[in-house]
Amino acid sequence: MPVKNLMDNGGSGLKVIDLDGYYLPTFSQLKSHEEELRSMPDWMARDDDVMICTYPKSGTHWLWEIVSMLVKKKAERISTVKETAMMEIMSKKTHDNIPSPRVLNSHVYFEYLPKDFAKRKCKIVYAMRNPKDVAVSFFNHHSKILEYEFSGTWEHYVDRYLKGDVDYGTWFDYTLKWEKFMADNPDYPIIATTFEDMKEDALREVTRIAKFLEVDCDQAFLQEVTDLCHFDRMKKEKVNMEEIDSWKDGQPGMYRKGDVGDWKNWFTVAQNEFFDRVYQEKMKDSKVQPRYTL
Ligand code: A3P
Repeated sequence: MPVKNLMDNGGSGLKVIDLDGYYLPTFSQLKSHEEELRSMPDWMARDDDVMICTYPKSGTHWLWEIVSMLVKKKAERISTVKETAMMEIMSKKTHDNIPSPRVLNSHVYFEYLPKDFAKRKCKIVYAMRNPKDVAVSFFNHHSKILEYEFSGTWEHYVDRYLKGDVDYGTWFDYTLKWEKFMADNPDYPIIATTFEDMKEDALREVTRIAKFLEVDCDQAFLQEVTDLCHFDRMKKEKVNMEEIDSWKDGQPGMYRKGDVGDWKNWFTVAQNEFFDRVYQEKMKDSKVQPRYTL
C-alpha cells in the first residue's frame, strides 16, 4: 500500500495512504487493504443497509450509536465500536458477514462506496459539522492516534487542514460533493443533519432520523435513545471499548469535549481571518451555512 508522509510548514509529517492522490488513514489491519478499497465499488449492498456519511470528526460515533439503537428498536448500549462497521477499513468478507440490518459508516467520497448501495437507494444519514470545530477535533485526533506518527503543532495545522494534507482530503471537497449529490438526486433517500443541530436539540434530531428510517416507536423510546447517546454517557460507557494501544499514553481520546465553538479557544485572530478567506473562496458557489456557535 503506498504510504505517504505529508509534511507541514513546520517540518512535521502525518502518515496516510495515498490512493491515487486520495488520502486515507493507515489504521486498517488488513494486509489486502488496497485491493479491498479498490474493489469496494463492486461490493453488494442490502436493501435495508443504512450508511452514515460524514467528514471525519463530525459526530460519526454519536450518530452511529443513535442509528444502531433505532434500527434495532432497542434503547440499549451498543456493545461494539463504530469502527467495526467502517467501510474503508474492513474487508469485503467482514462487510458481507455483518448481520442485517447493517448500520455502516464511512468518510470516503460516495463514488468509492458500493455502486449497488446507490442502485438500491439504501438510506443515507449525512451529517456536517462546522469546519472550524472539525479542524480542532481533527488536530487532537491526529495528535493522539499513534498510527499517524504526527507531532505537529496547531500553529501549522490550520494550513495543513485547509490544504487537505490530512486523511480524506479537505472538508470543502467533501461538503461540496454532498451538496451536489443532494441537488442532483432530489429523490434519493438521504437525511441531512448537523452536529450543531444535534447539540441544539438532540431529541428533535433523533426523532427526525427515526421517522426517516421508518422506525415505529414511541416518544419514551426516542428519549431513552437520546439520553443513552448523550456525550457524558457515551464518554463513560464507550471509552473502555476503544483500542487502548492505538492511543498515545494509552489514553483513548475519541470523546474529547463534544462542544460547539471550541474553535474559539484555539484559532488566533490571524488564523481565523485566513480561514474565513479560504472558506469564502472555496465555498463561493455553495449554499451551505455552517453554524459556528449556538
Ligand atoms: P471533539 O473532538 O470536538 O470533542 P467522530 O465521531 O466523527 O470522530 O467525531 C468526534 C467528535 O464528536 C469529537 O468532538 C467527540 O467528542 C464528539 N462526540 C462524540 N460523541 C459525542 C456525543 N455523544 N455527543 C456530542 N459529541 C460527541
